[in-house]
Amino acid sequence: MREAWMAWLNWLHNTPLALSMRQSEWLYPTVEILHILGFCALVGAAALFDLRLLGVSRQIPVRQMAAHLLPVAWVGFGLAAPSGFLLLLSDAQSIGASPIFLSKLVLIGLAGVNALVFHTRTARSLPAWNEHTQPPLTAKLSALFSLGVWITVIALGRLIAYYG
Ligand code: HEM
Repeated sequence: MREAWMAWLNWLHNTPLALSMRQSEWLYPTVEILHILGFCALVGAAALFDLRLLGVSRQIPVRQMAAHLLPVAWVGFGLAAPSGFLLLLSDAQSIGASPIFLSKLVLIGLAGVNALVFHTRTARSLPAWNEHTQPPLTAKLSALFSLGVWITVIALGRLIAYYG
């Protein structure tokens, strides 16, 4: 398993696109800026929704907040994921083997599972707490988990440059 992963990283590292990421003066910074814009939109939208689930601004219906923020989160993810992959390409052999990078990917997966469980299970009772009431404990725990995971993902993303 580990050998197959390292072989794939090795192959990625030597693709023409990876070479361009290393050699071009403007490509890496451009992709990095897109990565930052993407995760700001994604994590910003998630954090605002999480605050609402924690009971802040209860006069705004949860359903309307979700309708407003979910597309922003998807656009953010659509920018952050491919740009993150391009950043990985720039030094695939070392970044791809970094425990910090791998932990970051696992946490992004956990955040996705948490959001899925919220939408398919917790939100079933939404009509009862859509506005002017405290959301239930399960919704608050999901929001706390989401906030914690996203803050950690941002910290790990930054730490790759120092300890990756
Ligand atoms: C979706 C949520 C994500 C968040 C919140 C996030 C967060 C971050 C942050 C804060 C940085 C540091 C930016 C800087 O120092 O300027 C970063 C860099 C990076 N991210 Fe992400 N990221 C996400 C997704 C991804 C994905 C899906 C990948 C890979 C497939 C990825 C790969 C990378 C790489 C390779 C770097 C550069 C590391 C270095 O400094 O060498 N990211 N990310």
